[in-house]
Amino acid sequence: MALYSDKVMDHFRNPRNVGVIEDADGVGEVGNAKCGDIMKMYLKIDDDIISDVKFETFGCASAVASSSMATELIKGQPVSEAMKLTNKAVAEALDGLPDYKMHCSVLAEEAIRNALDDYYKKHPEKRKE
Ligand code: FES
Repeated sequence: MALYSDKVMDHFRNPRNVGVIEDADGVGEVGNAKCGDIMKMYLKIDDDIISDVKFETFGCASAVASSSMATELIKGQPVSEAMKLTNKAVAEALDGLPDYKMHCSVLAEEAIRNALDDYYKKHPEKRKE
């Protein structure tokens, strides 16, 4: 079996939503101390909907593919749904990652979570109990 699924290779070679949102409503950055990879997510949020999302990833193929897939999964979704995105869901949407590469998908989950935390810090009135 190939190490990476076709979807991982596709999202690595043609990553979706790469870039920066200058006036982002929430920005989240995470890194993995072991491999040194870094991921940054930018969210634009309108009426509790993720209207735009972009990312910058300095990392391995799985990290790039995970960021790309994660942005696709949350774009157009309500904030409450984006909050629930798990690294498992990202890996499944990519038709799986090798076990030792699962931490790459964790970066995507954490970067989005951090960006949403940042959004709520800036807009505490939006937080729903
Ligand atoms: Fe660390 Fe992929 S090897 S994020």
